[in-house]
Amino acid sequence: MVDLVYGRGITDIVREIPLYMDLFKKMIGIKFFHSKPAIYGSADIINVCNLHCSHCYWWLNRKEENQGLSVEEWKDTIRKTFKKERILFVTLVGGEPTMRPEIIELFCEEMPRRVCVVTNGYFPLTRFKNLYFYWVSLDGTEEAHDSIRGKGSYAKTKENILEYIERPVRNGKPAWKDIWLTMTINTQNYSTAIDLAEEWHGKVNKIGYQFHTPFMKGDPLWLEFGEKRNDIVDSLIDLRKKYPEFVINSEKQLLLMKGNWGGVGTTPVQCPSWAILSLDHMGRTKQPCCIGSADSKSLKPICEDCGLGCYSVLVANGISGA
Ligand SMILES: C[S@@+](CC[C@H](N)C(=O)[O-])C[C@H]1O[C@@H](n2cnc3c(N)ncnc32)[C@H](O)[C@@H]1O
Ligand code: SF4
Ligand code: SF4
Repeated sequence: MVDLVYGRGITDIVREIPLYMDLFKKMIGIKFFHSKPAIYGSADIINVCNLHCSHCYWWLNRKEENQGLSVEEWKDTIRKTFKKERILFVTLVGGEPTMRPEIIELFCEEMPRRVCVVTNGYFPLTRFKNLYFYWVSLDGTEEAHDSIRGKGSYAKTKENILEYIERPVRNGKPAWKDIWLTMTINTQNYSTAIDLAEEWHGKVNKIGYQFHTPFMKGDPLWLEFGEKRNDIVDSLIDLRKKYPEFVINSEKQLLLMKGNWGGVGTTPVQCPSWAILSLDHMGRTKQPCCIGSADSKSLKPICEDCGLGCYSVLVANGISGA
């Protein structure tokens, strides 16, 4: 399979032509008629996690209602939401989504090659036939990662990635192409961001960076705006120049992350929070965004201190405005 852009082959692109036409129409609506259609999707397919990471927003608002949707209920939800709204790509999260492989399988059947899974990589990674790729979370090099995610977790995830990428080529696609890394930068791990890329360059397909987003002012993990944050952004820009095929953040997106690109207080302003349809484990819409909650009384992310990659990339590409 020949990669044309970001892991999409010719067959993907031909199959998706109608979706790209819809995307074009959506973009015209956004640019000229101030419409706010969802372009991407995210779904928390599970209300359980095997880890309790110190930076995690998900635990902040989690409620003890362990029952998620069944396969049949997710099928119905996918058809009534993501497919009905002609969503291009959906990201599966949680909790830990790999603990519900049957739901990943379903999404891959319903939306072939348009599904990404964000995972802590703690369990062996399945090679799903129609998965687009895995986002594997590595929050710095071993010591920093373990201080956030628990002792031994880096080694476990590393072992699972290495085991996955050794698998044979399938349909012309080597397994390493399925692995993209994501690092969430905070006060505890920022100094290891470049070393992490150096460790994995040449082994996995891509790396993406975002910054910790706080839910309260004074969160000690939030890397405040100023010199230290600017320096790390500048070093990521240099890294991108060194490895343009590996680092997925554009310079424009990284520059946005030096300051407030999101909003005022807990209200999105420049952030196009509407552009990603985000469902929780019961299929309810989360507000204001994928790290929010369906419960309006829950804790809210602080938009003016936001560092999320999936929305800042839209702003960097000219899609903005709440
Ligand atoms: C909530 S996790 C769910 C998927 C999976 N359990 C994992 O850890 O990758 C999704 C992503 O959100 C990131 N994340 C967690 N808390 C965050 C926060 N407060 N700000 C920004 N990203 C955060 C995690 O590092 C992870 O990459
Ligand atoms: S593994 Fe993912 S969902 Fe679980 S606590 Fe860590 S960041 Fe949160
Ligand atoms: S992604 Fe947007 S809505 Fe969500 S916290 Fe960040 S700025 Fe606010």
